[in-house]
Parts: sequence; C-alpha cells; structure tokens
Amino acid sequence: MKNKRFVFRISGLLLLSFTLCRQSEGQNRLILHPELAKDTIQKEIYGHFAEHLGRCIYGGIYVGENSPIPNIRGFRTDVIQALKDMDIPVLRWPGGCFADTYHWKDGIGPRAERPSIINVHWGGVTEDNSFGTHEFLDFCELIGAEPYVNINVGSGLVREASEWVEYITSENDSPMTRLRLQNGRDKPWNVKYFGIGNETWGCGGNMSPEYYADVYRQFASFCFGADYLIASGANAGDARWTEVLMEKTQYHQWMTQGLSLHYYTVPGESWSQKGSAIQFNEKDWHATLKKTLRMEQLIIKHSEIMDKFDPDRNVGLIVDEWGNWHDVEPGTNPGFLYQQNTLRDAMTAAVNLNIFNRHCERVKMANIAQMVNVLQAVILTRDDQLVLTPTYYVFKMYRIHQGALMIPVTVESEDYILDGDTIPSMHASASSKDGVVNITLCNLNPGKPISVEIEYSELDFIPADGSIIHGETMNDHNDFGQPEALNIQPFALPQPIRSPYVIELPAKSVVLVRLTVGG
Ligand code: AHR
Repeated sequence: MKNKRFVFRISGLLLLSFTLCRQSEGQNRLILHPELAKDTIQKEIYGHFAEHLGRCIYGGIYVGENSPIPNIRGFRTDVIQALKDMDIPVLRWPGGCFADTYHWKDGIGPRAERPSIINVHWGGVTEDNSFGTHEFLDFCELIGAEPYVNINVGSGLVREASEWVEYITSENDSPMTRLRLQNGRDKPWNVKYFGIGNETWGCGGNMSPEYYADVYRQFASFCFGADYLIASGANAGDARWTEVLMEKTQYHQWMTQGLSLHYYTVPGESWSQKGSAIQFNEKDWHATLKKTLRMEQLIIKHSEIMDKFDPDRNVGLIVDEWGNWHDVEPGTNPGFLYQQNTLRDAMTAAVNLNIFNRHCERVKMANIAQMVNVLQAVILTRDDQLVLTPTYYVFKMYRIHQGALMIPVTVESEDYILDGDTIPSMHASASSKDGVVNITLCNLNPGKPISVEIEYSELDFIPADGSIIHGETMNDHNDFGQPEALNIQPFALPQPIRSPYVIELPAKSVVLVRLTVGG
C-alpha cells in the first residue's frame, strides 16, 4: 500500500487525469510544463470578502473617527497596513446573506441621520449603517483593492439596484450623481465588479434556478454602467444550478461576465458538529484536507458545464466564498462566526490557492470568507490589538502568483493514509513572472518530511530563494499578547543545481521555491 502513488496531470486544456502507479517510496516528483503555459493567474484569485457580520466591519475594519484606536477617517491604521503588505487585489461587500437585506440609501448621507436596521442573519444586532457605500469605497482606495459590490436582489428592487450602480459609476449629471455630490463625492468611483444577489438558492430568496435566471436577466438589464456582472451561482456540487443558469443566460453573455460558486470546508460530521478551530487531532486534520481537496473536483465539474455553453471561456467562475468553517470560539456570540486559525487553516488556504491557480483558465476571482474576525480570517482584532493569522501569511507568501503566467504541473505524490483514508502528501502549483519561476508546495502529512524532485526540463535555472510556513504542532496558531508562533521564515534551497533537483519539505509545511530562469 505504501508505494501506491497519486499522479495528477494538469494541462492548460483542463485535463486532469488521476492515475495510480507504482514507484519506490519517497520519490515525489513535480514536473513543470512551461511549454503548456498560456493562462494568466488573475490577481483577483487572491481576493477577500467583508460582510456586515460580527466584528468584521465594526471593530475589525472601522472603529469610527473618534476611536482611541489609531485610524484614518475611522478605518484602523493597523489593518490598512497589514492588508497593503499582503497585496489585497479585490474586496467583496456588503455580504453574504446581509447583502439581500441591505438597502444602500440607508448607508449614505450624514451618519447621524442614517436609519438603523436589524441584522437579521447575524445575531439580530442593530446595524447603524455608519459604514456605507462611501466608507467602503474610501476603504478600498486606502488599501489599494478593487471593490466588488454585491447588489440586493432578495429584498431589493430593480430600481434600487439601477440607482446604486448609477450613484457609484456615472459621470453624467443625474439625480443620483447630484445626490452623490451632495454627500461629498464629485467624481465616480472606479468600480468594475457587481454581484446580482447572493446565494439566491438560500438566504438570498430561496429561488429555483429557473426563476433566478429570469430575475438575473431583469436586474442585469438595468445595471447600466456596470462592466462586470456576476450571477449568483451554485452551492458546492449543485450542477443543475450551473446548468440552468448557463443555459438561460447563454444568449445574454454580454450581460454575464461571471458566475459564482460557494464552497466551505466544514471539518466535522455536519454543520451542527463542525469542530473546534484549535482543538483537533490528526483525524480531523486529514478529514479537513480531504474535504478541501474537493474544491478541485467542484471546479472541474462546474467548468465542464460552463464549457458546453461558453466554450471560449468568456464567463469567469467566481469562487466568491470559500474557507474553513469551524465552531465559534467558546464564549463568543454564535451569530458572529468568530474562530481562531491554525497551521491547519494555513494548509487548506495553500491547497485552495494552488487549485485556483491551476484552474485559472476558468477561475477569474476567488474571495476567502472573511477578511477580519469572521470565519477563516487573515486578521483577528481585539480592541486595539491585532493578530495576523497563519492564513494571512499564506496569502502574503502566495502573492507572487498574482498576475503571473500559470505553469501547468504534473504532481506525483506518495500517499498520506490515515485509518484507511488516502490523500496525496504533496500539493503544488507554479507560475512565472519577470524571469522567475515561483513554485508553491505543501506537505500535507503532519508526521513525515518528504523529498520532492523538481523537474523543469526545458530551461536552465538557479535557485533564487525559498521561504516556509510551518510549526511544531498541527494546532499552532498566533494569539493576542503572544509572540507569533507562525509566520514566513527563510527556507534554504540546495545549491548548486544538480539533476535531479531535490528539496526536502518538512512535515506539515507550506513552501515557496523561487528559481531564476536561464541562470
Ligand atoms: O460567510 C458567511 C455566510 O456564508 C454568508 O453570509 C453566506 O453567503 C454564506 O452562507
């Protein structure tokens, strides 16, 4: 059993073959195929999501101008800096389920005059609308991210949507642009991405795909000024949703640039038994990774359906909610979805990002849920303190893939078997930019280092540098008032180049290898 090996071959033609072959133990191979490289990894694959949920917006991003916490116009200075250091390309807002309860005119004008609403989905707390359209778009400008605005379809009107797009994007003199000017903004904002509803199969209206496809076409018809419209897509493996949406919008592709997909990794047996973010054993680790690897099957499945209606791949698959969903931290509001973040979360983030890279011919954007203090957050805050999570460091390490040319890879990996359940030990993706090849590799096995032979047949290269994220235990995490347990460390690469070029991946590690081509 030990010498059974996985072989994944990924080509630019979306070919994935799964082969089992027999080779001696410990010879993991990563074969790069620069001759097949043709697709760019859109930087938006490294996107984020911020919902009016728990302490994501209030406390996490926005504390108000009068807060003792250092801020710029009410936005936390420490959070702005951390996000800029990570190169955040795009930010989705205001939800999530919240989006389909949100009426944008409640969130403009003098703050003291903005009406309050109840945040019915997330703890029933009062939402005072002090963070609205101007604040969101101001924040995006501060952090250098493209905004992605999710429009209310479930409880909103077509006119409301149409006016919101006009308010944000129009340069003409109109009732909406005059209102914008009255609220202090003359020029339109540069907003490309608009989503038409969220999870319209669930919290966004419990619609059938047939009904929603018509509603989508109606809303999209009146969003003049929106360049990139994203339809609310499937929940995980719901192939029928994608089939119906693609079929019913196939003659309206001029108004459909993206179709979303939501898939969360829920480590436990069920949504009511998700399991602790921190206290888990190897069985939970293995199960979490196995469920995360399902993302690749989902992308392949939905892409195949999309290919039938859109063979030229004009419509992007937008994975605008993904990540680990654990139990909330004990003692916190169950409606706030606050969870800690360990090396396990770093590993699943790395695996998901490798998958998105490898399928960048169809995946044009992805948004981890969520940016601060909610679900698999990259940043946790408590009062004036801030923690960068292991997931943050994966995004920071992987940012070199943004806008790079994806290099297809063949991954030959030994098995990582636990209680008879098998996943590969090694996971990887590669890209090139400015004469440097960037390879990101994971050793999913928490108990065993692995040797990986890197094969890059066509070109000469010299090792540029390497870096690593790994910890002593699977449960390592960063916490308030403690020195960081996990961050990015230098990783010494073997020199000089010998054929075969072999690197040793420590157990439970995420590694970046950078090779200079033609050296
Ligand atoms: O991210 C939390 C919630 O998960 C979102 O509001 C919703 O879209 C999804 O079900």
